[in-house]
Amino acid sequence: MSNEDVDSRRRRFLTITTGLGVVGTGFAVAPFALSMAPSERAKAIGAPVEVDISKIKPGAMRTEEWRGKPVWILNRTPDMLKTLPQMDKRLVDPKSEVDTQQPAYATNETRSIKPEILVLVGLCTHLNCSPLAKLKRGGSEGMEGDWLGGFFCPCHGSKFDLAGRVFKNVPAPTNMVVPPHTYLSDSRILIGVDKNKKSKKSKAKA
Ligand code: FES
Repeated sequence: MSNEDVDSRRRRFLTITTGLGVVGTGFAVAPFALSMAPSERAKAIGAPVEVDISKIKPGAMRTEEWRGKPVWILNRTPDMLKTLPQMDKRLVDPKSEVDTQQPAYATNETRSIKPEILVLVGLCTHLNCSPLAKLKRGGSEGMEGDWLGGFFCPCHGSKFDLAGRVFKNVPAPTNMVVPPHTYLSDSRILIGVDKNKKSKKSKAKA
């Protein structure tokens, strides 16, 4: 390959990665991370990710990246929230009591700090495939007629409701993971930081 070819490929790569940097906060790490030493890169990739949630319309979902994992932010409508109390009998762990790794704000019916905003690591708890969002009720998205909305993992058929709670009789053993996160303001969240956890620690020290 000639030097000109190498230069042109390099230019294309830089153009692409620079472009990615403006797509979303989560992806902004990529161009910087490539030029860092391995330890700095690991730190940057593990760094908290700030997200403006004001543009996520009711019923819509946005994907960010945190620690190399997809993180979903779903703005649930009142109709979506109404489905949650109807799900208990179909779920393994409706109150998220089994998995003690969950943050305290995930151990309620909505599994969220604000009822409408669900923040989830978008990976199936069976073998880490990424489930598909099947947010609409009924069979319009290929689910069964009594489907109330949620997520379906195409790898081995696990199902989760609109709070990421796992259905009975599927391979996934636990609810989807709610990552640590905190609100910086009404419209901004920080993924990767658990303000409540910190305050518990500082209480213990006091
Ligand atoms: S990885 Fe999702 S069901 Fe197996």
